[in-house]
Amino acid sequence: MKKIGILTSGGDCQGLNAAIRGVAKGLYVEFGNNVEIYGINDGYLGLINGSYRKMKPDDFSGILTLGGTILGTSRQPFKLMRVVEDNSVDKVKNMKENYKKMKLDCLVILGGNGTHKTANLLSEEGLNIVTLPKTIDNDIWGTEMTFGFSSAMEIATNVLDCIHTTATSHSRVFIVEIMGHKAGWLTLHSGIAGGADIILIPEIPYNIDSIVKTLEHRNKSGKRFSILAVAEGILSKKEASMGKKEFKAARAKMAYPSISYRLAKEISERTNQEIRVTVPGHFQRGGSPCPYDRLLATRFGAAAAKLIAEKKYGFMAALQNNAIVPVPLSEVAGKLKGVPVDSDIIKTARDIGISFGD
Ligand code: F6P
Repeated sequence: MKKIGILTSGGDCQGLNAAIRGVAKGLYVEFGNNVEIYGINDGYLGLINGSYRKMKPDDFSGILTLGGTILGTSRQPFKLMRVVEDNSVDKVKNMKENYKKMKLDCLVILGGNGTHKTANLLSEEGLNIVTLPKTIDNDIWGTEMTFGFSSAMEIATNVLDCIHTTATSHSRVFIVEIMGHKAGWLTLHSGIAGGADIILIPEIPYNIDSIVKTLEHRNKSGKRFSILAVAEGILSKKEASMGKKEFKAARAKMAYPSISYRLAKEISERTNQEIRVTVPGHFQRGGSPCPYDRLLATRFGAAAAKLIAEKKYGFMAALQNNAIVPVPLSEVAGKLKGVPVDSDIIKTARDIGISFGD
């Protein structure tokens, strides 16, 4: 009897349940009745605390279109010390012991960058691990696409579409703050799809003078409104030149809840234009996965089951050249896939006159 654990960790996203279902369906095809699937509750916390449940085939029915994760999730256990009250708990030791207690043959872990660091650690500690790349940020190294991204892009684009009509009516400047602290994929893609005039991403530090110039140019050419798609992790050119400590201190002094509000103040002081900020926030991670994410998550899930059947452990299922391929966890862990500043899509955006504020 094969015993396989499944765990979802980090921020949730659309397509997690579709991926879980893909893994389960694939395992049932590979092993028939000779497999037991265990759902670990609330991410790595469940593995640390020994909180899990045996799943039945029925548990995986009707979840393809469901948002969130039926298993629950949590952020990195190494940061969330306050959740596991006893700081003396050796989390890695606990995870290994619980894996062994459950007599697992393999643990399938669905997560983003932080999750992959821990997954690689567990793999190095001798556990059989297979992972799937999930995040709305699309910033996992080794895969061209993560599930969750496409659905979030649809939502963010929809926000930009809706903002267009009100921005035009009122002749206003709008900042739409889009998720992505370290990578600007979501802002870039939805920004182009949603017709933003200025796109600001963490990979391209902005210069307020350049933004003001673009806005003034639009005004002069008779445009009644302007829309900025702004990633939550943007930084100015000045901030980009700071050391880590100096940057942290400068941000701590900020009187605004997010960088977008500071930017709005700077723009309104410089342009005299009426400006509004919209922050769709976690809305971008909610609801049903779009068809592309359902498909991608299912492909990843099925690939995980195949890897387990072949006893190929220590890999992430990745999308490369439209095929699902295994990438070693040691290559994925600790890296971040940012937007290359000279990428074709950035060039396309520039070609149609979108400004990156640089
Ligand atoms: O990693 C996905 C993500 O949605 C980021 O885009 C965002 O910065 C972050 O999670 C928000 O984290 P939390 O859900 O913990 O507030």
